[in-house]
Amino acid sequence: MTLLRDLEGVGADRFRGGYSRHVFTAPELELRAWFTEQAQRRGLDVEQDRNGNLWAWWGRPGPDAVVTGSHLDSVPGGGAFDGPLGVASALAAVDRLRAQGFRPRRPLAVVVFAEEEGGRFGVACLGSRLLTGAIAPERALTLTDADGVTFAEAARRAGIDPARVGPDPDRLGMIGAFVELHVEQGRALEPLGQPVAIGSTIDPHGRWRLSFVGRGDHAGTALMGDRRDPMVPAARTVLAARSAARAGTRATVGRLVPVPGGTNVIARRVDLWLDARSASEPSTREAVDEVISAARLAAAEEGCEVEVREESFSGEVTFDAELRERIQRVLGEVPVLPTGAGHDAGVLAAHVPAGMLYVRNPTGVSHAPEEFATDEDCAAGVESLAAVLEELAG
Ligand code: GLV
Ligand code: MN
Ligand code: MN
Repeated sequence: MTLLRDLEGVGADRFRGGYSRHVFTAPELELRAWFTEQAQRRGLDVEQDRNGNLWAWWGRPGPDAVVTGSHLDSVPGGGAFDGPLGVASALAAVDRLRAQGFRPRRPLAVVVFAEEEGGRFGVACLGSRLLTGAIAPERALTLTDADGVTFAEAARRAGIDPARVGPDPDRLGMIGAFVELHVEQGRALEPLGQPVAIGSTIDPHGRWRLSFVGRGDHAGTALMGDRRDPMVPAARTVLAARSAARAGTRATVGRLVPVPGGTNVIARRVDLWLDARSASEPSTREAVDEVISAARLAAAEEGCEVEVREESFSGEVTFDAELRERIQRVLGEVPVLPTGAGHDAGVLAAHVPAGMLYVRNPTGVSHAPEEFATDEDCAAGVESLAAVLEELAG
């Protein structure tokens, strides 16, 4: 897609592959500047809200607005489409509607949500959670990144007043409907031969941090029987996650950090993050409980302590039925898909009618450089989004 080509070099991660574009870091700020410039070029009025989300308005900001957009931040080493496709498609849909001579009767906005991936501060959808009050500002402000920088500090440097971070009912009250276009993060559309689908549900999902504490020591001199090595219960927890994830549950340890982290050093502490999801909250919680029990047992057997903290949890989301039916009427016979991926649309769905469109990803891979969508499918996504916006705002 032409607009996405502008972003090709930004935040390219030579070590991990793909892109690392974490909120308020140089690459993400560059993407924000790109968005602002593109929106202004289209005559849209751009503002940053008190939580670091960007809003580009076609028409005066006001109630009953039709809002579309996504995010520009990425996971570490992520693909080019997760987030930016929704933002670029929203701008392209505005172009398309303009070219047709369309004039929205309701205010229309393109939004860029901050820290959707939680790639820097650990809590996904931080911008939309703050906006809706799903996370307390006191907690958000004290979240830290890998270098110990707080969200408050990073936000301040990005021109946000930490004292004003938090629920924004006035802004939330302006949203009449929210539709997010996103690259498909799975393999459902390819066999169906369809470029675009409509979202139905988001599986319950959450993140847990397990910190194992043992005794740091010398790899060559500490006898095996004397060790309290937190890497051992951490490793057993990885295996417990694999065996707890059955019958449709997914459990992942994608991040594990030994402290201090030296080849010839027995770690003093190991932090491990568990991501768990399934179609129901009880089965998700059951799997997590099983992993945590295994972690506690493994820690005790190694003479280590373990501290467990739920960093975030999102219950099941069912997108607004009326909005979905309206989208279906506009798009005709397109597949309706559930997803195991979290989105800002899911956070907003608890407050306003929200929905999603997915664009086919022939690799089926996401959160990795292989994530892909063809130009033709991206164009079909823009066409679908424009038709939906026209229906909602016309
Ligand atoms: C976000 O993409 C998530 O599902 O973790
Ligand atoms: Mn993602
Ligand atoms: Mn995303």
